[in-house]
Amino acid sequence: MSNAFKSKARGTMRRGRGKLSLDPEEMAAIWLQQEERGKGLIGGDPQRKPRWRHPHPAEPAPWYRHGLSSPEHQQRLAAFLTAAPLEVEIGAGDGRFITAWARQHPERHFFALETRWKYARRMFERAQKHGVENLWVSDNDARVVIPEVIPNASVEVFHILMPDPWWKPKHQAKRLIAPWFLAVLARKLKPGGVLRVETDVEGYPEFVQTLVAAESAFLPHNPALASHFADAPPTSRQIWCRERGIPIQQMFFQKQTGEEE
Ligand SMILES: C[S@@+](CC[C@H](N)C(=O)[O-])C[C@H]1O[C@@H](n2cnc3c(N)ncnc32)[C@H](O)[C@@H]1O
Repeated sequence: MSNAFKSKARGTMRRGRGKLSLDPEEMAAIWLQQEERGKGLIGGDPQRKPRWRHPHPAEPAPWYRHGLSSPEHQQRLAAFLTAAPLEVEIGAGDGRFITAWARQHPERHFFALETRWKYARRMFERAQKHGVENLWVSDNDARVVIPEVIPNASVEVFHILMPDPWWKPKHQAKRLIAPWFLAVLARKLKPGGVLRVETDVEGYPEFVQTLVAAESAFLPHNPALASHFADAPPTSRQIWCRERGIPIQQMFFQKQTGEEE
């Protein structure tokens, strides 16, 4: 079967194949580049996101743009993030999953980050259409926003569904699942909170599990946690995979209950 399929919905979705480097020195160097020079930020430096090119809904609409939202709006987001049990989706695409999940759980609050403005906007419109009031959207790189706006030990679930593996060495700086970012996610999760990762990319589960195993705050993948998400709606990519019989691997990593920070 070909490696690339034409999606019935829109565009082309691919199933990549490649080698994911696990060299800790290389990964540490990439993180430094990102910290010091913003290299590898998807969508670019949030402070420079051009309003005129990618307009976002006027405040107080629940859309956050890092460095450009007003102080009052930042306070609104901060209050929202702590007012109810919190779940965060990273790389939410068009928001098919998170808007439906938020409707299923009106007693919870949700924050979804998607760097591609077109998809973030689609997610926002979807939420508006269905009157979803417990979801905020951001079109910034989650690796910039999460460390800065989410309080430590506050998140019940991080959803990372069908992330891009970024196989090529020159794209490594874009990878979400990296040691430094796993440490951030561990810090932001409540004790007992869950990092949920799903993928259709062969070899990626081994890569993820190896990196998570190196972060002592996390317990190993626990398949029993799948029951918490048995009625979770699929993402657009997951629908695409299901239509083609492509298997999806699920991983659930719980934060140790003894770890506060
Ligand atoms: C393969 S798509 C999957 C989208 C959606 N989860 C789905 O399953 O249909 C991965 C998405 O993650 C987004 N993404 C990648 N890195 C990101 C980051 N650092 N912060 C926010 N979004 C990111 C990409 O723009 C892309 O839309």
